[in-house]
Amino acid sequence: MSSSEIYLSKNDTLRSVKNRRSVRMFLDKLVSDDDLQAILHAANHAPSAHNQQSWRFVVLKGKKKNELANLINAKADSFPKPSCVLLRLASRSIVSAPVVIAVANSGELISRGTELFKVDKDTAHDFFRIMEIQSSAAAVENLLIAATSLELSAVWLGVLVLIKDDILQFIGEPAGEFMAVIPVGYAAKAGEGPRKRSLDMVVKYLEQ
Ligand SMILES: Cc1cc2nc3c(=O)[nH]c(=O)nc-3n(C[C@H](O)[C@H](O)[C@H](O)COP(=O)(O)O)c2cc1C
Repeated sequence: MSSSEIYLSKNDTLRSVKNRRSVRMFLDKLVSDDDLQAILHAANHAPSAHNQQSWRFVVLKGKKKNELANLINAKADSFPKPSCVLLRLASRSIVSAPVVIAVANSGELISRGTELFKVDKDTAHDFFRIMEIQSSAAAVENLLIAATSLELSAVWLGVLVLIKDDILQFIGEPAGEFMAVIPVGYAAKAGEGPRKRSLDMVVKYLEQ
């Protein structure tokens, strides 16, 4: 056993981080309300710039979830390959999952930018837009890790940025910024997912 494997075997959090993999097809099995609340709490507990929590989580189930899938399929027709294929795959994942969580940035932090930093509007807009995106990315990762810890699976569907305005309109956040749509459920089949690069390819140490 390598030193990292020994470490993982001792720590539930690290195990959940390692076991999280993107899953795109799900069993026909409901996610309990308790589990759904637990993963939403985990998302909402993420760090956020100025603790503004400028994220919004929209939970879609049943008819509404299938309407979203239909919307994506319809829009996919106007894109070339491979975008149309990826959009249709995203739609299939949404149909397959018992519950879907959409994440949008509210823009509240951006609108408070000039007041918070006493800088001009354009500088504040660029700066706080990045802060909102980074905060929501932390929330999405918390959500994914929490789902894994409860033996649920999920996938971050970023390809829907291609039709972000339609998605925002559909989820009732037309003034927001699209972040993610996340189908959540029990994995249809177990898989290890793609390999990760080794640490020596992505880490460098600077000393002195
Ligand atoms: C910002 C972001 C956008 C992503 N968008 C998609 C997507 O649109 N469709 C999809 O199937 N997977 C999407 N993924 C999942 C990645 O494909 C996946 O994380 C990557 O292949 C590594 O696999 P793993 O998550 O199992 O470790 C996205 C992941 C991130 C972080």
